Amino acid sequence: MKVLVTGANGQLGTDVVLALEKKGFDVKAAGRSEIDITNFSDVSEKINKFMPECVIHCAAYTNVDMAEEERNTCKLINVTGTENIAKAAVSVGASIMYISSDYVFDGTNNMPMEIDDKPNPINYYGMTKLLGEEAVKKTTDKYYILRTSWIFGENGKNFVKTMLNLSEKNESVSVVNDQIGSPTYTADLAKLISNMISVGHYGIYHATNEGFCSWADFAREIFAISNKNTEVIPINSSEYPSKAKRPFNSMLSKRCLEINGFERLPIWKDALTRFLNQHFF
Ligand SMILES: NC(=O)c1ccc[n+]([C@@H]2O[C@H](COP(=O)([O-])OP(=O)(O)OC[C@H]3O[C@@H](n4cnc5c(N)ncnc54)[C@H](OP(=O)(O)O)[C@@H]3O)[C@@H](O)[C@H]2O)c1
Repeated sequence: MKVLVTGANGQLGTDVVLALEKKGFDVKAAGRSEIDITNFSDVSEKINKFMPECVIHCAAYTNVDMAEEERNTCKLINVTGTENIAKAAVSVGASIMYISSDYVFDGTNNMPMEIDDKPNPINYYGMTKLLGEEAVKKTTDKYYILRTSWIFGENGKNFVKTMLNLSEKNESVSVVNDQIGSPTYTADLAKLISNMISVGHYGIYHATNEGFCSWADFAREIFAISNKNTEVIPINSSEYPSKAKRPFNSMLSKRCLEINGFERLPIWKDALTRFLNQHFF
């Protein structure tokens, strides 16, 4: 199968390309310099040239705080860009996998969110991710919308790397303890993505590593696995002012994976151990 990946130099995109190549797909890895998703004629020309059967759309504006200020840019990339990709995919008969986010939910209850729970984003980035989902749904029936959360991988900035850097210069770090979610290793998610497009059950999915924790728990585990003595001081979100609000509950229910015959991803602590062992020790 011919598969085109947008955002191929990003955190998730890099591992998606690797996972697809490993499975023997004919992959076109498109970073921003190959396809600017905000330019429809560029998108259309490149998609018509490669003629993919599936497009995995990993490109996005992902700076959640900056999005509050750079609203036009964020919307152009996450909404118009997604619409462009979906329309061009449809024009060549390709399916699309759109990577979405836990931030489409407001996180005001304390249960894992199901795929059909009502989204209600509380920050601008989350709003554009939801509008991206809607753009995909109104353009084609051949879609996968895959919501994930708290991504870490080798390529790009993430919480694990930030904590390891902080631990070099600090004996303690203050970390938010009242937002709960699931860390997700890009290599595990990429493997699932490559399985999903082989099977072809379209629809909305939630996919993260298993288990839930707070950012403070996540930091403690990073330091424990890396044998760092850095102390984690738990704080409330109100003590860590940021431009964008974040949901307290980012837990996603993964029942939809089993229902469609997919294995759940490994426990997040196992994923974190593999990531750290592979890339840092
Ligand atoms: N990171 C998380 O914790 C998280 C959580 C939930 C969902 N997600 C979603 O998961 C997906 C992948 O996230 P990620 O962490 O891998 O993001 P990332 O590392 O920021 O990668 C996004 C990629 O998109 C590219 N891009 C931005 N604007 C573009 C444009 N106009 N045309 C083409 N490419 C463009 C970026 O290129 P440049 O490097 O050149 O800017 C970057 O390589 C995104 O849809 C994101 O919303 C992420």
